Amino acid sequence: MTGSDTNLLGTVHGGVIMKLVDDAAGAVAGRHSEGPAVTASMDEMAFLEPVRVGDLVHVKAQVNWTGRSSMEIGVRVLAERWNESTPATQVGSAYLVFAAVDADGKPRPVPPVIPESERDKRRYQEAEIRRTHRLARRRAIKELRAKRTDEGSEHDGRR
Ligand SMILES: CC(C)(COP(=O)(O)OP(=O)(O)OC[C@H]1O[C@@H](n2cnc3c(N)ncnc32)[C@H](O)[C@@H]1OP(=O)(O)O)[C@@H](O)C(=O)NCCC(=O)NCCS
Repeated sequence: MTGSDTNLLGTVHGGVIMKLVDDAAGAVAGRHSEGPAVTASMDEMAFLEPVRVGDLVHVKAQVNWTGRSSMEIGVRVLAERWNESTPATQVGSAYLVFAAVDADGKPRPVPPVIPESERDKRRYQEAEIRRTHRLARRRAIKELRAKRTDEGSEHDGRR
């Protein structure tokens, strides 16, 4: 990380890390689905420790779960001082959903991911929980908005 990556406090801007996370997840999604894949959502982006100028940042990503055309990618961000031999520490994590798309940008099927190790199986199960919650939350918000529209509660045209 260099001086051009900083926020007003002098540490690395969260958006710089988020771009690295999105890039790594996109590479993993593209490899797994053997074609183009787009970010559908990013959630639970956690910044655990500040990243500093001079840190070497590592981003590790894997496919945790696959649906019909979507994949959940889990990402871990690690940082180490460029001039010290202390081990890298985890500074962030995130879960992203990517959708594999065809040449027209329409969702296309992805090969299933087959979890093998116990850790992969746990990540798969956790991803299913997040998927269930994402869908339930989206549905609940959609229903609330439809209800409020029907009741005429909001008149200012905002969504
Ligand atoms: C993501 C996108 C392809 C989904 O298209 P869609 O017409 O809504 O298609 P679907 O509803 O069939 O969704 C496709 C899959 O993505 C998942 N998905 C769609 N929107 C999602 C969201 N916001 N969060 C999580 N998953 C999502 C669906 O659950 C579905 O998964 P499944 O096939 O495994 O069951 C479309 O919304 C898109 O192109 N978005 C822009 C992506 C982009 O440009 N990203 C870069 C940011 S600039």
